Amino acid sequence: MCGIFGCILNEGNAAPVIHASLKRLEYRGYDSVGVATIHNGKIYMKKDQGKIDDVHRILDLDDLPGSIGIGHTRWATHGAPLKVNAHPHSDCTGQIVVVHNGIIENFSELKLELENNGHNFVSRTDTEVIAHLIEENLEKNPELSLADAVTEAVKRLEGSYAIAVLSMKEPDKIVCARNESPLVLGVGENSIYCASDIPAFLQATNKAVLINDGELIILSSKGYEIRKIRDATVVTREPEVVDWTPEMAVKQGYPHFMIKEIHEQPATLRNTLRMQEHYLDLISTFLDRASEVFLVACGTSYHACLAASYMFSKLAFLPTYPVFASEFVEQHGKSVNIDSTILAVSQSGETADTLAAVNCSQQRAATILGLTNTIGSTLTRVSRVYIGQQSGPEIGVAATKTFTSQLSVMAQLALKLSKKRGKISQDEMDYLAEKLETLPETVETIILTQEEKIKQLASKYKDAKIFFFLGRGINTATAYEGRLKLMEIAYVPSIAFPAGESKHGPISLIEPGFPVIFICAKDGSTHKTLIGNIMEMKARGASIISIMEEGDEEVKALSDDYIEVPKGIPEVLSPIPFAIPLQLLAYYMALEKGYNPDMPRNLAKSVTVK
Ligand code: AGP
Repeated sequence: MCGIFGCILNEGNAAPVIHASLKRLEYRGYDSVGVATIHNGKIYMKKDQGKIDDVHRILDLDDLPGSIGIGHTRWATHGAPLKVNAHPHSDCTGQIVVVHNGIIENFSELKLELENNGHNFVSRTDTEVIAHLIEENLEKNPELSLADAVTEAVKRLEGSYAIAVLSMKEPDKIVCARNESPLVLGVGENSIYCASDIPAFLQATNKAVLINDGELIILSSKGYEIRKIRDATVVTREPEVVDWTPEMAVKQGYPHFMIKEIHEQPATLRNTLRMQEHYLDLISTFLDRASEVFLVACGTSYHACLAASYMFSKLAFLPTYPVFASEFVEQHGKSVNIDSTILAVSQSGETADTLAAVNCSQQRAATILGLTNTIGSTLTRVSRVYIGQQSGPEIGVAATKTFTSQLSVMAQLALKLSKKRGKISQDEMDYLAEKLETLPETVETIILTQEEKIKQLASKYKDAKIFFFLGRGINTATAYEGRLKLMEIAYVPSIAFPAGESKHGPISLIEPGFPVIFICAKDGSTHKTLIGNIMEMKARGASIISIMEEGDEEVKALSDDYIEVPKGIPEVLSPIPFAIPLQLLAYYMALEKGYNPDMPRNLAKSVTVK
């Protein structure tokens, strides 16, 4: 998730406007920035890695001539946050420059084809192929307009994109195109804007034109033209007036980043399914060959590790050891060795306890693998191989979209491993891979159909003094995550246990009305035994709140309240959809109690841009 911006002004220089607008898009990405303008037959460009203020201090991003320009603030997915990978990217001639937000899945094949046609690539990004494709089209057919050359180029792209293109071919225009990644136009009195999000131009105008997937836009000083990429048919669409304050706009109209990021999960899960196979293969090869594997992390990331240990065992018969990073040195510091492999998981890539565990292991020659959401973070620098999970920046302190993305990456790794080890049938692997592909829609359905009900649930139980979260098997991890969210965001004392453990002591706390949340996947071997645990709690008068599969009549009959997730979710993938109701419950419980979900007391998160 990056921020793209472009503008055509009837008066004044574009660069200061682009710089200021990128600042307003910084919540979308902040590891590198770049601006390009066009003036008197020449393209001017300034870009570098680092935060906008730091780069501006060195390069002065306001000092580029010309009233037409584009800009970009980046959240790296392909290619580390280095100057060479910062946007805009240009073609071989430097006459075409492109900024892009999204993930081009088939960029490797396109790059190879273009290199065979003599194109020279300078970056490791997926984006650069777009500039060379446009160049290729114009070389093959110089009669083509810039818009047509861009159209032909985007028709060859697979994946998500929102792009803005500047070219000496038509120096008075900006051409944009969208597929999945957000793009919106701003229509000013004497200016026209394109951006990833409304906050970018809200200072200048509140007249916005929303762009749909499969549309190409031509911006000029006369205004904008929208065409369908498929068949170039012209689309007419009037601007809408947006009555948002700049603060609301950054949250896209949501009251808090946490709820915005919960709602982003269908999109972030789709992004996570666009992982570069190459890195999944590499990491799964290291895991396959390892003599012992530790999954090391803190907080929510630890819960992803716990769930992953079930996935690796069930699908690939690979035993792995999930370890709290803060305990790793004490627990394994003496035994970890050259044959050990550490998969360290951290969305920020900067959590001190996790890095300390990595450091200890590195000193003992262990192999370090990383899973993070922050390319360029310390974890990426100390890892032998790392995977970027592509969730985009997470501003809310509560980890939500990064948790489900971590689980999706782990499931993809487990399927790779199961293939390598041939532990499950091809049919089962295909079935699970197919189910993984449908999870973004499943999560969408849960949010659409259950959010209101969860709101009422939070209101009903807002005075509860304590909660139990119980799950079995892989959903023990989901129960722990539900507990963490309710404590972290709504400050409600909560206890989580593997349900089978609850009768070994904790059950003595149960009294009439004591709320117990059960995570009840229908698929798999735990359903029956979990019903036994529900009955044990119910027998003592507990209020049973079940997160269950649609139509699970047995559990429904035993529950005082229940939240339904769509049918047919394989147990080994179930923590992803089952986490959503728990995130929403914590969010609405915090609101019920008058707390700001974005700013919990403990701030247990190493973020930089605030
Ligand atoms: C989760 O909501 C918390 N903010 C916290 O537990 C967090 O997961 C933990 O600090 C680990 O952060 P990391 O993934 O960035 O390493």
